[in-house]
Amino acid sequence: MRELQDRRQAVFKAMKENSIAIFFSGVSKVASEDDFLPFCVNKNFYYLTNIQQEHSALILIKAIGKNSLYLFVDPYDELKEKWTGKRLSFESAGLISGLKNVYSTANFETMVKLALADDNNQYGLIDCVYLDLSSPEQKLRDDLFMKDYAMQLKVAHPNKEIVDIYPSLRDLRMIKSPLEVQNISKAIEKTNSGISYVLRHLKAGQREHVFADYFEMYGRLHDRSKLAFSTIVAAGKNATCLHYPTQNDVVKKSDLVLFDLGYRHQQYCADISRTFPVNGKFTGLQAKVYEAVLAVNKAVINYAKVGLSLKDLQDFTIENLKKQCLRLGLMTIDDDLKKYYYHGVSHHLGLDTHDVAVRDRPLQVGNVITVEPGLYFANHGIGVRIEDNILLTEDGAVNLSKNIIKEMDEIERLMKTRD
Ligand code: GLY
Ligand code: MN
Ligand code: MN
Repeated sequence: MRELQDRRQAVFKAMKENSIAIFFSGVSKVASEDDFLPFCVNKNFYYLTNIQQEHSALILIKAIGKNSLYLFVDPYDELKEKWTGKRLSFESAGLISGLKNVYSTANFETMVKLALADDNNQYGLIDCVYLDLSSPEQKLRDDLFMKDYAMQLKVAHPNKEIVDIYPSLRDLRMIKSPLEVQNISKAIEKTNSGISYVLRHLKAGQREHVFADYFEMYGRLHDRSKLAFSTIVAAGKNATCLHYPTQNDVVKKSDLVLFDLGYRHQQYCADISRTFPVNGKFTGLQAKVYEAVLAVNKAVINYAKVGLSLKDLQDFTIENLKKQCLRLGLMTIDDDLKKYYYHGVSHHLGLDTHDVAVRDRPLQVGNVITVEPGLYFANHGIGVRIEDNILLTEDGAVNLSKNIIKEMDEIERLMKTRD
C-alpha cells in the first residue's frame, strides 16, 4: 500500500502545477461474437492502482496547492453479474488501491468536464492534461481509442496542452523495488517448478505442444498461474525459429528441445529459456553448441553491471559467441555470426515480459533484465538458448534464476533419475 502511494506521489512529482493525469485500465478485446479474449490490464494503470478490472479509470489532479486522486470502477449491475460474474465493489476497489475516493465510471466524464472547466472550477484553471498515449492500443471504452480521446479533448479544450505521461511511468517502472523483485522471483520460482514438471514428462513420440500443455496445466493447477507470454517448445531444427508457432512436430529421441516459458506472479513476469536433450544425453555436436551458449550466458551475467547499456551486453555477447564458435569449430573465420545468432541478448523484464525501457539508457541499480544468448544451426537441426533473469545491484548482477537447472552434467544426471 505504501509503495502504491509512493508511485502515485512520484507521478504527481512529474506533473506540472495545474494539471490533470488520466489513466485507463482498458477493455477486453473481442474474440468473436459474444466472446472476449482474457482481459489484459493496462500495466501503467495497474502499477498505480493494483486494480485489474476493465472499464476503470484513475484521475490525478495537481492544483490549488494539493494533490487529489479519484478512482472510477463499474457500478454494481445485477444483470451483468448474472452474465459475467462479480465485479469489485467500490469498497473493495478502495481497499485494493488504497484510494479513498472511489466512484462509478458513469461519473468519469462529468468529473473530467468539471476539472477542465475554465470557469467556476474548484481546481482553478487546469491547463495541462496528461494521458498515457504510448501504451499499446489502450481504450477508454469499447468504442474509443486513447488517441481519439486525446483528439476529442484537444477539440473541446484547445487552450489546454495534452502531454504523454508514458515516459514518466516508464522511468518509474524501469527501477524495480524490493517488492517488485520479490514478485519476479516468485514468478521465476514457480516457473522452475513448472520446468521440473515438464522434464519429468519429456520423452520422444509426443508432439511439441504436449510439453507446452504440461507447463501450462501445471501452472493452472498449482495456483492458476497466468503465463507471462505464449509458451515456446521447439524440437530440433524448429528451435532455430525464434517464435516458432506451430509446435505440432513429433519430438524425436535425438532432438534437443528448446523451452522458452514463464509464469506471472501478481502480474510480474518470468522469462526463462532452457534446452534439454530428449534422450537425456547431449550428443557430440549438441554438447559443443550447448557448452558454447552456456559459457556465454555465464560470461554475460558476470559482465553485466550498472553503467553498461544493453548494446554493450549485445556487443560482448557477439564477441564471445564468435570466440566460442571458432574455438569449437562451429564457425570458420569467414562466417558471419549473424547466420547463427540473430536476436538481442537482453531486454528489461517486469509487468511486461518485454518491459518498458529506454533501450540505450545505461543500466541502473534496480533494473531487471534477461540474459539470453543462443546459437542456431539449422543445417545441424540444433537450436540452443539459455535465458536467465538478473537484477542489477551496486555490486554487479544477481542471477534471480540461478536455481533453474542449466549445467550439462546436472541435466543429464537428473534425466537419468526420472523414471
Ligand atoms: N520469450 C520471449 C523472449 O525471450 O524474449
Ligand atoms: Mn524468453
Ligand atoms: Mn526474453
